[in-house]
Amino acid sequence: MSEAENQATSILLPSSKLAVYSKDPQTLEAARGLEDDWRFARVRVAGEDGDVESAIRVYEEIKSPDLIVIQTDTIDDSFTERLGELAGHCEEGTSAIIIGPDNDVNLYRKLIDMGVSDYMVRPVSTEDLAEVVAKALIEKIGVTGSRLIALTGAKGGVGTTIIAEALACGIADILGQKTMLLDTSGGWSTLGVGLGFEPSTTLDEAVRAAEANDEDSIKRMLHRVDERLQVLATGGDVMLEDTVSAEQFEVLIDMLMVKCPIVIVDVSHSPAALQRCVIARANQIMVVSTPTLPALRLARSLVQEVREVRGGDHGELSLIVNMQGQAASSEVSKNDIEKAMELDVAAYLPFDPKVFLSNESESKKLTDDKAAREVINKNLLPLVRKYLAVNENTDEDEPDGGFLDGILGKLKKKA
Ligand SMILES: Nc1ncnc2c1ncn2[C@@H]1O[C@H](COP(=O)(O)OP(=O)(O)OP(=O)(O)O)[C@@H](O)[C@H]1O
Ligand SMILES: [Mg+2]
Repeated sequence: MSEAENQATSILLPSSKLAVYSKDPQTLEAARGLEDDWRFARVRVAGEDGDVESAIRVYEEIKSPDLIVIQTDTIDDSFTERLGELAGHCEEGTSAIIIGPDNDVNLYRKLIDMGVSDYMVRPVSTEDLAEVVAKALIEKIGVTGSRLIALTGAKGGVGTTIIAEALACGIADILGQKTMLLDTSGGWSTLGVGLGFEPSTTLDEAVRAAEANDEDSIKRMLHRVDERLQVLATGGDVMLEDTVSAEQFEVLIDMLMVKCPIVIVDVSHSPAALQRCVIARANQIMVVSTPTLPALRLARSLVQEVREVRGGDHGELSLIVNMQGQAASSEVSKNDIEKAMELDVAAYLPFDPKVFLSNESESKKLTDDKAAREVINKNLLPLVRKYLAVNENTDEDEPDGGFLDGILGKLKKKA
C-alpha cells in the first residue's frame, strides 16, 4: 500500500462491526491484534474459527456485520459459488475481504468483480489486516467524527472538574468507549489529585508537540488511568502566567480528536479565550451550577453567552445542578430554575462528600467506588448514552453497493 494510502487510513475508524472467519491461528491472532490498534477503538472485532460455510450458517440466523473477512484454502468455482450463497444471507451493503492461498491475478479480478473489497494472500499480519480493513471500512461507511464534550462551571468550585472526571470514568468504564480527558486551566488543574498522577507537563508543551505533529511526545504526556481512559497530564504550568492561545489549543484538540472517539474538556478555572474556543466547537456543552442563587444567576448569563457563541447552533446544551441538598433551605426549586434559565435541568447530583470529596482526596477512580458508580450511571450517563452506542448510525450511512449488491448484480447478469 502506498504511503498516501497509509496516511489516509491513519484515522479513527467509524463505529462498525467486523467478523473474521478463519481456521488459521495466525489470522485469528492478527484479528485479535486489531484491538490494540488505536484506529479500531470503535470497531467491534469478532474472530471465529471457521470458514465460508460457518459464515453462511451464522448469517442464516443473525444480521451480518459491516465487514466479513473469510479465509479459504480452496480457490475455485466451488468457493465462489459458496461466496454467492453467503451473499444471499448477508445484509445489503455488507462488505467482504477474502484471504486465500495464492497470488492469482485472475482470481483477484474475479473476486473484485463480484463485489469483494479486497483479496489478501496468507499469511497475514495484524498490520496488513488493519490496513486493508481500514480502507474497506472507510470506503463503506466513511469517516465519522469524534465527539467533543465541554464542561464549564457557572462559578468557581461548583464541581465542574469532579463531574468531568466522573463522566470520563463512566464513559470509559461503563459504556466501554475510549475516552480522553484534559483541561484548560494550566497550573490550576486539580485533575491530577482525583486521578492520581503528577502533572508532568504543561499546556504549552502539549500544544507545541501538537503543532509539530509530534505524536510520540503527546503519547508521553498522557497518563493512562486504565485501558480506556487517558488524561493529558498538564498542570505543571505557572499559575500566575498566561497559558496558550485559543488557536494553539485548537491544534491540540484537532490532534486528540483524530485519535480518540470521546474527548472531554474541563474548562473550569480557565482563561475566557480557551473556554470560548472549546465551547464554540464542542458537540455537547454541559454547564454546571449549584442550586443556589449566586451560582444560578451566573449560570443564567453563562447559558445566554454560550447560546450567543454558538450563534443559533446550540449543539447539545445540558444544565447539571450539583450539590443538591447541601443547603436545602436556600436552594431554588427545579421549576424556578428551568423557568429562569429557559432550559431543563438535565441532571441533578446530590451533595455527597463521601462519593465526591473522599474519592477525590484518595485519588480513587470514581467508577471503582460502588456508590459513585451508581450515581454516575443513573444521573450522568443518560446525558451521553444515546450518542455513544456503537453502530448507532451505521444504517443511515450505508452507501449503495457492497458485497451483496456486487454478487447479486453478477447473478442477475448471468440469468
Ligand atoms: N456533589 C458533591 N458533593 C460533595 N462534594 C463535591 C460535590 N461536587 C464537588 N464536590 C467537591 O467540591 C470541590 C470542588 O469541586 P471541583 O474542583 O470539581 O470544582 P470546580 O467547579 O472544578 O472548581 P474550579 O472553579 O476551581 O475549577 C472538590 O473537592 C469536590 O470533590
Ligand atoms: Mg475545576
